[in-house]
Amino acid sequence: MTHSLPNDSIILVPSILAADQGAIVEGVNFAKSAGVKYLHLDIMDGHFVPNISFGPDVVQSLRKKSDLFFDVHLMLSNPHEHYESFIRAGADLITIHVEPDYPIEETIKAIKDKGVFTGIAINPETPIEAVLPYLELVDLVLVMTVHPGFGGQKFISSCLDKVRALKEKQVEDGLDFRIEVDGGVNLDNANMCVHAGANTLVCGTSFYQSADPLAFHKQILSLKEGH
Ligand code: DX5
Ligand code: ZN
Repeated sequence: MTHSLPNDSIILVPSILAADQGAIVEGVNFAKSAGVKYLHLDIMDGHFVPNISFGPDVVQSLRKKSDLFFDVHLMLSNPHEHYESFIRAGADLITIHVEPDYPIEETIKAIKDKGVFTGIAINPETPIEAVLPYLELVDLVLVMTVHPGFGGQKFISSCLDKVRALKEKQVEDGLDFRIEVDGGVNLDNANMCVHAGANTLVCGTSFYQSADPLAFHKQILSLKEGH
């Protein structure tokens, strides 16, 4: 593992899916030009989600060109069969979904055993109860704010109820994990996300379409929890 997961209050994590996929390295450089330290990499299998993105070879190639923290979001039916190749490729954090049928706890522990941070992700229609058994094990909980599969969708604000519930549970039980929102996050709704309790904001389309990525980053960093 090359990176640590920071305690910074708010983190912007650009999603490389929104960059030109034929010039993905330029997309990484665009993110770097904004001064970000983290990058979200969406891995889609065409089975758990309707779309297909890229695999470990691309992640490995980007790893050689970038020192950003790689936040790898596995949207796969069988993440337990693939997490190792993403670790070898240079992932710093691997997030797996709670919905598919596979040994979730075992997979989380196996990822941690390899010295990589772990996250558990939850789709809009999945109740919060599904992730509760894993909260003590993970470094991050990813609350999907769109149906996974595509960038550029509209933010589903009702998902923030789950962010609020998670935050409450975290405080109540004295747990320590980051809360990430992913899907349709932009400068208009980021404040709502942070207010609900999220501190890790994945921005694809909104970030890559911004005319001034540095100003975008600064605006996100200026958001304060509880305001
Ligand atoms: C959606 C992905 C997201 C996506 C976000 O399935 O998990 O990470 O890239 O993109 P935007 O911000 O455009 O919704
Ligand atoms: Zn994602």
